[in-house]
Amino acid sequence: LDLTADFRAKVLKGTAALTLETAPTAKQVVLDVKALDIEGVTDASGEPLKYTLGTPHPIFGAPLTIELPQGAQKVVVKYKTTANTQALQWLDPSQTEGKKYPFLLSQGQSILTRTWIPTQDSPMVRQTYSAIIRVPTPLKAVMSAEMLTPDGEAVPGNGTLRAFRFKMDQAIPPYLIALAIGDIDFRPTGDRTGVYAEKATIARAAAELEDLEKFVAAAENLYGPYRWGRYDVLILPPSFPFGGMENPRLTFATPTILAGDKSLVSLVAHELAHSWSGNLVTNATWDDFWLNEGFTTYFENRIMEEMYGKDRALMLQSLGFASLQDTLSSLKEPGLTQLHTDLKGRDPDDGFSDIPYEKGAAFLRLLEQTYGRKKFDAWLKGYFTRYAFKSMTTAGFVEDLRETLIKGDPGAEDRLKLNEWLYKPGLPSNAVKPQSEAFARVEAQVEAFTKGTPAKSLVTEGWVTQEWQHFIESLPDTLTLEQMKDLDTAFSFTSSRNSEILFAWLKLAIVHHYEPALPALETFLTSQGRRRFVSPLYTALMAQKGWGVEMAKRVYAKARPLYHSVTRATVDETVK
Ligand code: BES
Ligand code: ZN
Repeated sequence: LDLTADFRAKVLKGTAALTLETAPTAKQVVLDVKALDIEGVTDASGEPLKYTLGTPHPIFGAPLTIELPQGAQKVVVKYKTTANTQALQWLDPSQTEGKKYPFLLSQGQSILTRTWIPTQDSPMVRQTYSAIIRVPTPLKAVMSAEMLTPDGEAVPGNGTLRAFRFKMDQAIPPYLIALAIGDIDFRPTGDRTGVYAEKATIARAAAELEDLEKFVAAAENLYGPYRWGRYDVLILPPSFPFGGMENPRLTFATPTILAGDKSLVSLVAHELAHSWSGNLVTNATWDDFWLNEGFTTYFENRIMEEMYGKDRALMLQSLGFASLQDTLSSLKEPGLTQLHTDLKGRDPDDGFSDIPYEKGAAFLRLLEQTYGRKKFDAWLKGYFTRYAFKSMTTAGFVEDLRETLIKGDPGAEDRLKLNEWLYKPGLPSNAVKPQSEAFARVEAQVEAFTKGTPAKSLVTEGWVTQEWQHFIESLPDTLTLEQMKDLDTAFSFTSSRNSEILFAWLKLAIVHHYEPALPALETFLTSQGRRRFVSPLYTALMAQKGWGVEMAKRVYAKARPLYHSVTRATVDETVK
C-alpha cells in the first residue's frame, strides 16, 4: 500500500500492489471495490492490464476483474478514495480533543475495507501487508502493523509531507487493516504495551490503561502466548463509532472509556481477547460472527475475573445477560436471534446485536460448566492453537467439539442442546443465568426506593460503576418526576462523567421526560458518536411522540455531520 493523505480534498490516493497466489490456470483476479475511483491497473513492470469494473451493488460494491497475463503474480491498482468511502472518517480540527489539527480514522469491519483498499474483502481471505503512508507535517500515521518508522521520514522533494512505513508479516483478514492519522503521541505502559492518543488526551489515556501489561499477561496465562508482538491501544477522538475495534497490534478505542477510575477497562480486555478469538481464529463468514464475538465475550470475562476477581466478573456477566434478554424480546426477526445466521444478500451489519456476543458467551459458559473449567480451558487453548491463522465456520466448530471436548459421549449433543443453541432462535432452556450477590443487594435497594425510602437513605456505599449501572437499569419506567429528582439530587447522575452511568441514566430520563437531564442528553449526543450509546438514545426519543421526536430530529440534524458513516447509517433508520 502506498498512499498519500490529502486532508484538504479528504482523499487517500496512491497504489495498492497485490501479490497473488494464483492457480496455474488463473486468467483473472477479482477484487472487491466500493466507492473507489480506479485510475488504472498495471503489472509489476508498469505495463497496463485490462480490467473491468462491474455494476456496483449498494451494499457489496463492485467486482474489479483484472485480466492476468500468463504467470502474473502482481497487480498494481492506482486509485483514490471518494467522498462516499464509508471506512474513512475525516475529522475537522474542531472534532478533535486538541482542536488544532485534523484527524483521519478507518474502520474496516465488516465489509468497509473495500471502500479504501481494493482487495478480496472476505474474512476467510488472509493477507500480509506492508504500507507507506505520506501525511502532512506534523501529523503522524499509525496502523495495525509493526511501526517501522515511529517518527516518520522526510519525503524527498516535499517538505510538507512525512512518510511512515509499516509491515504486518502475519496473515490477517482484510477487515483488520487499519489506519489513523493525527496529532498522535505515544506513552509506553510496559515492555510490549503502550498507548497512542492525541497529544491532548495522552496523559489521561496512559493513566487509565496503566495496567495494560498485566492484561496481556492474564490473557496469556489463560489461553497461551500472545502471538502478535506488541499490544498497543489507540484512543481515538470521540466520533469513533465503536467502543473498540481489535485491529491487530493496535486496538482502536473510544475515549468514552476514560472514566478516570479504570472502571470501564473491560472493553480493553475484550479487544485484547480478540487477539486469539477473531484475529488468530477468524470467522470464515459473517454468518459465523458469533465465533468471533461470543468467544471474545467469554474470554473478556475470564480476563476480568483474573484481574478484578469473581464478584466483578459476575456483575459484568449479569449486565450482559440482562441485555441479552432485552434483545431477545425486542428483535423482530427470529432468524437474527440464532447464533449461526443467514445473511445472504444482506449487510453483515444486520446481524450485529447482543446475540452473537451474549448468547455466544452464554453457550461457552454452558460448556465450561458442563465439562468443568479445567477441561474446558484445555480445550479452548487447544482450539486457538489448532486453528491459528485459519478461518472457522460454525460447522467446523461443531466438528472440532465432536473430536475433542465431547468425544465418546453420544448423548452429549442432545443434553447440551447443541443444535438448538447454534441453529435455532431464542435462548435454550439450559442457559445458566449468572447469579451476582452484589446485584441482589442492588436490587434490594431498588425495591426499597420504589417502596418509599428516600434516595439519600439507600445503602450504596462502596458501589462500583457496574452496581450503579445495574441500579439504574433496574429502576421501573414508572417513577414520578419527584423520584427522578430525588435520585438525581442524591447521586448526581445527570452530571456523571462516567459514560456508562450517564448513558443508563439518560435512557431513563427520556422515558420519564425528566427535563433537567435534557441539556446533558443533547451534549452527550453531540460530543461523541459511539453507536452503542447514540443509537438507543435516539430510538428512545423517537418513542416519545411529540417532544421526543422533535428533540431527536433537532439534535440529529446538528450531530449527524459529526458521526462516522457506520453510526449515521444506523441512526438514519431511526430518525426519519
Ligand atoms: N469487533 C467489534 C466491533 C465491530 C463488530 C465492528 C462488528 C464492526 C462490526 C469489537 O470487538 C466490539 O465488539 N466492540 C464493542 C465493545 C465490546 C466491549 C463489546 C463495541 O464497540 O461496543
Ligand atoms: Zn468484539
